[in-house]
Amino acid sequence: MAQAKVRTAVFPVGGLGTRFLPATKAVPKEMLPVVDRPLIQYAVDEAIEAGIERLVFVTGRGKSAIEDHFDIAYELEQTMGSRGKDLSVLAPTRFTPGDITYVRQQEPIGLGHAVWCARHVVGNEPFAIFLPDELMVATPGCMAQMVAAYEKVGGNVVCGYEVPEDQTDKYGIVEPGSIDGELVEVKGLVEKPKLGTAPSNLMIPGRYILQPEVMRILETQGPGAGNEIQLTDAMAQLIGQQPFHAFKFGGERYDCGDKAGFAQANFALSLEREEIGEKLREFARARLR
Ligand code: UTP
Repeated sequence: MAQAKVRTAVFPVGGLGTRFLPATKAVPKEMLPVVDRPLIQYAVDEAIEAGIERLVFVTGRGKSAIEDHFDIAYELEQTMGSRGKDLSVLAPTRFTPGDITYVRQQEPIGLGHAVWCARHVVGNEPFAIFLPDELMVATPGCMAQMVAAYEKVGGNVVCGYEVPEDQTDKYGIVEPGSIDGELVEVKGLVEKPKLGTAPSNLMIPGRYILQPEVMRILETQGPGAGNEIQLTDAMAQLIGQQPFHAFKFGGERYDCGDKAGFAQANFALSLEREEIGEKLREFARARLR
């Protein structure tokens, strides 16, 4: 059966980014660059590659640099143009007016609440969610792979990524059922389980395809782990009512909300770049000798 197309992506970017202070006092975490592109650009590119047509950013105070990034930079473009500079580098930042919507989450009281803030824009269709501080590297991209999986099974498909047992208390974790290749049936979900109690080591690294019914659940949901309104708790209620799978992602994942992960992403992606890769390799060899 053909599934309803995933046309809309929600990017919750209302968080405070406290782990990166003072860098994130005036600059949103999502605007921190990995090599020469801000984190948000990687997530947006991944969405476009997956066939997403509408982008919804759930922002907060101090996040206006994200809006500027996806706008015309009139003076910059005029000046570059008059100097004969190549403007194609800015192409991924430009969208047809109306394809991007900004919604404000007045208070950062949890990821579930941030997603719920986008309910009117999402409407009654399945939608994708991207946490831009999770940088997923693969060809095809992580969401394109998830959309292909969703087209087979429908319902809800979250990304799944295996982490060492001693890290399961940091994430939303899947209780797995039957396994068919990359697709794992989801029998339960738990947010940040205490060490030793996790039902598996399959965590959800910030990529989701969900049915719109999750918005109705979020409507009345109270705070969960960390006293925040958790997306995981709302998703858990869909299990048993709609198909729910995790798609095991086999590519590279960098947690760029964390300093070590962010540094690793910069290092790994710099090594891949033709113009700087060799310089970095030499530097690393000399440093680590
Ligand atoms: P994090 O847990 O990484 O929180 O949020 P954070 O505020 O961004 O960063 P730290 O922990 O203080 O350093 C995961 C994702 O959920 C979004 C964040 O913007 C990030 O993309 N989020 C979180 C919201 O949009 N609103 C919230 O209320 C909470």
